[in-house]
Amino acid sequence: MKVIKAFVAGLALVGLSAPAAMAAGGAKPLHDGETHLPEWTFSGPFGKYDKDAVQRGFQVYTEVCASCHGMKLLSYRNLGEHGGPFDKGDAEVTDALVKEFAAQYTVNEVDDIGDIVERPARPSDRFVDPYPNVQAAAAGNGGAAPPDFSVIAKARHGGADYIYRLMTGYPDPEEIVDGIIEFNDEHSHGELTQPAGLYYNPYFAGDTKENWSGDPRHAPYGGFIAMPPQLTDGRVEYLDGTESTREQLAADVAEFLAWASDPKMENRKSLGLGVMIYLFFLALIVYFSYKQIWRNVEH
Ligand code: HEC
Repeated sequence: MKVIKAFVAGLALVGLSAPAAMAAGGAKPLHDGETHLPEWTFSGPFGKYDKDAVQRGFQVYTEVCASCHGMKLLSYRNLGEHGGPFDKGDAEVTDALVKEFAAQYTVNEVDDIGDIVERPARPSDRFVDPYPNVQAAAAGNGGAAPPDFSVIAKARHGGADYIYRLMTGYPDPEEIVDGIIEFNDEHSHGELTQPAGLYYNPYFAGDTKENWSGDPRHAPYGGFIAMPPQLTDGRVEYLDGTESTREQLAADVAEFLAWASDPKMENRKSLGLGVMIYLFFLALIVYFSYKQIWRNVEH
């Protein structure tokens, strides 16, 4: 009885706290029914990454994001593995690209006599972090350390959709006058003041009430993030000539981050398909041998 009561109380708590949490400054839903999210090729049981998008997204990562966000679970050689941005289908070309890329970075190593020496990174090295430690990362960014990107697409609810929305969700610069954003839509009427060093983003979880002049029940979605807007049209000049609109850049970098969070996804999915086919034929064989064995037995 006690157990059942506790269970029911638990259910009630879950039920009550969910809407309460939403009311306290929810982020804008990723699906709004008006604007389209990119159509990812990698979702679904047979999904595959779009190789060109992964390569472009890697370019966006290295040219824009890597100065703040590390990827310390990845090694440079992972970039050349199947489906990676340096997978050119020819092992020699791929190895050379990976080597050249790694060598731009510097690794500190302790040598035989205990001195710290610098050497260029090798393909087997992990990605070198942009900051020496978390304290330095936070100090360089107004107190909020940029999170590591190794598994960011898995670590955030909504994954690639969230990254895409976050990167494209900042208000346009002309909408912000002296740090103030005016809202006049069906949801909110009033002015939102950005705190110094923070940037309004409707998709970033937080609370806007304290900085809102209008009705607190209709405070805008989202919160204030320590990351300044990063992507604008033409921010990167793509090597493959694709037009680099803000939306394209955001979709490509989200695709790259999805790949980085799960580079073995394609292998796993094709293994899964193989297992299904195997089980199908096994079932057929079992069925016909059953028929065969009991053929002359009355039942
Ligand atoms: C100038 C440094 C800087 C650059 C460059 C930068 N970021 Fe950030 N980013 C940050 C900081 C700082 C945070 C932490 C923000 C916070 O917690 O308020 C962050 C957080 C994030 C988050 C996590 C948000 C969350 O839900 O916690 C994502 C995703 C992200 N950045 C994506 C990107 C992408 C993609 C790029 C490149 C296109 C990029 N960032 C470039 C500084 C940067």
